[in-house]
Amino acid sequence: MPHHEVPPLDSLPTTRPAGCPFDPPSELARIRAESPLTRMVYPDGHVGWLATGHAVSRAVLADSRFTSRYELMHYPLPGVTELPPAPVGDLTGIDAPEHTRYRKLLTGRFTVRRMRVLTERLEQITAEHLDAMESHGPSVDLVQAYAHPVPAMMICELLGVPYADRETFTRHARALTDPDNTPEEMYAAWGALEEYVRGLVSAKRANPTDDVLSELTATDLDDTEIAGLGSFLLGAGLDTTANMIALGAFALLSHPDQLAALRADPDGIDQAVEELLRYLTITHTGARAALEDVELDGHLIKAGETVTISAQAANRDPAKFADPDTLDLRRQATGHLGFGHGVHQCLGQQLARVEMRVAFPALFARFPSLRLAVPDEDVPLRHDASIYGVHRLPVTWDHQH
Ligand code: HEM
Repeated sequence: MPHHEVPPLDSLPTTRPAGCPFDPPSELARIRAESPLTRMVYPDGHVGWLATGHAVSRAVLADSRFTSRYELMHYPLPGVTELPPAPVGDLTGIDAPEHTRYRKLLTGRFTVRRMRVLTERLEQITAEHLDAMESHGPSVDLVQAYAHPVPAMMICELLGVPYADRETFTRHARALTDPDNTPEEMYAAWGALEEYVRGLVSAKRANPTDDVLSELTATDLDDTEIAGLGSFLLGAGLDTTANMIALGAFALLSHPDQLAALRADPDGIDQAVEELLRYLTITHTGARAALEDVELDGHLIKAGETVTISAQAANRDPAKFADPDTLDLRRQATGHLGFGHGVHQCLGQQLARVEMRVAFPALFARFPSLRLAVPDEDVPLRHDASIYGVHRLPVTWDHQH
């Protein structure tokens, strides 16, 4: 045990420092320097743990002595006292063997190869949205015009969800993660989304089309399972990449030297995307609970105790990444925890990577003079949302013609 006293926390810090929209809450760096695994008092009174170091976070995520089941965990943020079990289809809240079974059925449908094939379609979709921006311009909200619709259209096509229904499913998906909603409202939103996808599943059973939902009807999964998985995939595919594209564009516009380096070396895009994932880490938190006593990093985590993992802090750990608070698109950021780690590591990561590898270069090539249309500090940040990013990103550019 460390000899020094770490002041106890009463919940996970989530407020990013004023004027530094890309940096994690500053307390996290202080805590990590003191102890990469420390005790934390949860808002419901549970005395659990907070992991902020890279190595220890990775170790927890890789260790099957920890469970992901929501109902066995304590919540690190105020407002939620008890977590209900994951609804059918929510992969992040279940363990093996159920998790393994679903994951096996899905992994083959999200391979690097399949995502490469989608690249061509993605190039078309981005080009269409950039055309529309050009004709509306020279001033748009990049979230509405580009960052949100491009991944939404992709996940719709992949799953076989009509993009024309986007108002309906986006409303339900938003309500699912809206921090102002009560757990009951979130459950109602899940029910509504699931009912919508269930309708699609029965149509596909009758008339299969070339998409993931149809493929799943040919497995031994029942309609409840397919509708649940479909809803979860749709929800996971909507806001995540969208926020990475919008916040990533904001970060690049705020670091002109990095943007210039990317423009000069378009082949560096794969590495640049990994660095943006590391530097921005848009998910606040993951958590696990110990199923048995576990000794880790010189601490004894007792059975039943929750460990909250701050991927944001872990991705800025100087023990893993040199000069971690600097955005350096040329660094090897592999090993970051932006997609999590272990058996629950992001299933959609290849899709998200392909989306970003196409979306960033296409955007900056089309608008060489792209810049923010408002001062940096006026960009509305998603401080309170479970996925960080920007609500809007007003941008402008000079007319070419
Ligand atoms: C899981 C991040 C895009 C589907 C995760 C996890 C993280 C994450 C951190 C792990 C959660 C945990 O351990 O509890 C991201 C980020 C994205 C992104 C940063 C965008 C840049 C996507 C997309 C899809 C997707 C586009 C669409 C298919 C999933 C699924 C899981 C997951 C299904 C659950 C996997 C499991 O529990 O086995 N994601 N994600 N993600 N993600 Fe993503």
